[in-house]
Amino acid sequence: MTRAYSISAETIAQENQRVGGDLEKFDVSRVIQLDELELREMGSRDVHLRVLVVSAEHNVDHAALADTMNIADVRGGKIYPGNSAVAEVLAVGGEVTRFSAGDVVITHCNGEPDPHGYPLRIWAYDQPDSVGWYSEEAVVGDWQILPAPLDCGLNLWELAALPLRAPTAHHLWRRGLGIFRVKVPREKLARLNVLGFGGGVSELFLMLAQHEGHRAIFCSGNAERRKHLEGEGIEGIDQNQFNRFAGRDDVKAFNKQLKQMTGGEGAHIVCDMLRGRVYPAGLAALSRMGVNVSAGWQLDAGVQYNSANLSVRQITLDHIHFETIEGCAAATALYGRVFKPTVHREIYAFDDLPRALQEMHRNEQTGIPIVRVADEMPAKVEPLLS
Ligand SMILES: NC(=O)c1ccc[n+]([C@@H]2O[C@H](COP(=O)([O-])OP(=O)(O)OC[C@H]3O[C@@H](n4cnc5c(N)ncnc54)[C@H](OP(=O)(O)O)[C@@H]3O)[C@@H](O)[C@H]2O)c1
Repeated sequence: MTRAYSISAETIAQENQRVGGDLEKFDVSRVIQLDELELREMGSRDVHLRVLVVSAEHNVDHAALADTMNIADVRGGKIYPGNSAVAEVLAVGGEVTRFSAGDVVITHCNGEPDPHGYPLRIWAYDQPDSVGWYSEEAVVGDWQILPAPLDCGLNLWELAALPLRAPTAHHLWRRGLGIFRVKVPREKLARLNVLGFGGGVSELFLMLAQHEGHRAIFCSGNAERRKHLEGEGIEGIDQNQFNRFAGRDDVKAFNKQLKQMTGGEGAHIVCDMLRGRVYPAGLAALSRMGVNVSAGWQLDAGVQYNSANLSVRQITLDHIHFETIEGCAAATALYGRVFKPTVHREIYAFDDLPRALQEMHRNEQTGIPIVRVADEMPAKVEPLLS
């Protein structure tokens, strides 16, 4: 048995009843509960893990709110969430050759690759029978883990911020850039204007763009995050200056500022993980030939557009889900060199994980929320505990 967090259809219903169906008042910390889990028996291609650190991810918020779908209900009444972790290998099955006891590894959340390598479903979310890693121990298939790049220059908390968000950003960037380059080759326009809106995935996306020589602009309401990114050469725009795009005039004013900043050109590539009110701002700010990429729908799952307007402007809207496993490995090679995430100032204890998720839900954090699961750390990660 291991201690693990769960989300059940029953606790969702209870919280819904408490707040009278008002999601504004919903407290996700009442829904995510510490539970017990029996680890499955080890198979010959399995790895037994001791989880060291995890990051709070927004899909857990979506699962607890049941706002896009009631995934706990669909999965039979309960899920064990958590699809981003750093862990120590305790034991390996007889056919595992890539890992051995004592290795420190990271997970990826590609739950079941399709014939092209992209996930059909996400681990610990909609992949049937998948058990997540907000737990003290876990048994995973060896295909689900990658070696942790302990020498990349990041501390342990920064490393733990990346296993889910970095591959997403990596894939968004190669898709957005690839699509733009079909339309405008490098010899015509080498340096692009790249815009991202607040959030962990967006900041990593912009780090990739900046690292490759492009102009990167982060529009966020979080002053600490903007400051961290400015230190990395990424320009900041305060989203609160435009009332978080509450009205059409705010979108117009934002568009005017963005166009002024870019000599009238606009953004060639936009990363919008939020949709909702952010979406029209991102669309307006695009240049001709622009590409809008997204892998999220935090504020709204639906979008509308005027096909004639986007056709005339030669705009592409692209939707992605998650990286291939090879792409996850490629993203890992960029930890610390390109990806230097902003971590929230408090490192949460395992018992405080529900509070970490509620504070994420309320957008009160200064960066990516990290939860320390293990009290005792392996000697090889001790130097990374700063
Ligand atoms: N498909 C995938 O593989 C994948 C992977 C990761 C995430 N996602 C999804 O993508 C979305 C973002 O994820 P993330 O990890 O980047 O999230 P995150 O690091 O938790 O950031 C979320 C951001 O949302 C912004 N925000 C919150 N309320 C807002 C509002 N009312 N108006 C405008 N902005 C608001 C905040 O930006 P400010 O800085 O402006 O406050 C916050 O930083 C989530 O829906 C998540 O589920 C998908």
